Amino acid sequence: MLKVGILTISDKGSRGQREDKSGQVIKNSLALLDSHFARYEIIPDEMDIIRQKLVEWADAGNVDVIITTGGTGLGPRDVTPEATLSIADKVVPGLAEAMRAGTLDKTPMAMLSRAAAGVRGKCLIVNLPGSPRAVGECLAVILPVIPHAVEIIKGEVTEHS
Ligand code: MTE
Repeated sequence: MLKVGILTISDKGSRGQREDKSGQVIKNSLALLDSHFARYEIIPDEMDIIRQKLVEWADAGNVDVIITTGGTGLGPRDVTPEATLSIADKVVPGLAEAMRAGTLDKTPMAMLSRAAAGVRGKCLIVNLPGSPRAVGECLAVILPVIPHAVEIIKGEVTEHS
């Protein structure tokens, strides 16, 4: 069973001024896998708060994958990728590259997301853009490889079958 943390990063969402539709899309999509939602929170676009939350969840050992949504663009307050990369032990560029390349046919705006992915300890962290539509499109690309990625990170598979 995949233990999932959903971290919505949105100034407006954290103040209760915007409904978190993207978090719900993540929840619905991940429910297609054998998953359990271990953590969920909405926080503002603040570097220190994002870093702190990612470290807390990853290091607690009860979350296999943290999916963030929001803060990946070019706006002055968009710092999710920097926060993620600053606490990651390993960067996993292919996941973010695949999301951008794999959704470009849906919108050229896909290239404006600076989303990153990485591993901290035994936890996979993946950034998604903020809009519910973007979340659905990007998850459709990476979802099939998430369970295997987590197995490798946890050391449950060591050889290629
Ligand atoms: N990716 C996909 N697949 N679909 C989208 O609609 N929106 C883009 C982009 N990535 C989009 C997408 C837009 S408009 C922006 S500004 C960036 O993601 C960053 O979004 P964020 O700042 O909400 O994270």
